[in-house]
Amino acid sequence: MGKLSASILSADFAHLADQVKLVEPYADVIHIDVMDAHFVSPLTIGPVVVGSLRPVTDRVLHGHLMVEAPEGLFDELATSGMDVVSFHVEAVDDPAPVIRKARGAGMGVGLTVSPETPVDRMFAHLEDLDDVMIMSVHPGWAGQDFIPESLSKLELVRRELDRRGLAPDVEIDGGVNIDNARRCVDAGANVLVAASAIFEAPDIAAAARELAEIAKGVA
Ligand code: DX5
Ligand code: ZN
Repeated sequence: MGKLSASILSADFAHLADQVKLVEPYADVIHIDVMDAHFVSPLTIGPVVVGSLRPVTDRVLHGHLMVEAPEGLFDELATSGMDVVSFHVEAVDDPAPVIRKARGAGMGVGLTVSPETPVDRMFAHLEDLDDVMIMSVHPGWAGQDFIPESLSKLELVRRELDRRGLAPDVEIDGGVNIDNARRCVDAGANVLVAASAIFEAPDIAAAARELAEIAKGVA
């Protein structure tokens, strides 16, 4: 089942609840980019904002952790209301215990890879994941151009999941817009993540609706 995940990185943080309400009819998931100024140079948001957002939406809150030592955040994120966390294979020595720790904290778990990382770095863990995410821009910023080679990574991971009979969500994150969304779905993504294509559009709700229709295959 296709889904849209609205990334609040491009939202107006002074009006965050209102911005989430605009996309709620179309977005199944709210994507929250957590950056620590170490794994990536920007610093964004963490459990305090998640805790404020939790009571205003019933949508799935998915944390994309662009941080070193992601396991240190799990308990606080879970307590603040995060439903799913994805962390980077590049950020840990061995993903297996980190996956178990996130699950132990009561959250769904995903793995993600930056553009320069081969997708097979995630393959040993596919059986243990609720979510697999391919980054199609360099982690750190919204509004970058989609890296087209990401499509073949999507195809590879989709083929491997099918071969093993697994069905975690497969997400594409970065530079997704109305012009490339269908190619992402055709390559194997069932979740489209978008920040600037939604929150910088002149009509936020309309942009979310259009992307959601492509994700769900009704456009
Ligand atoms: C980048 C973030 C993305 C970002 C996407 O580090 O992980 O989720 O919000 O922004 P757009 O959709 O504008 O590329
Ligand atoms: Zn993200």
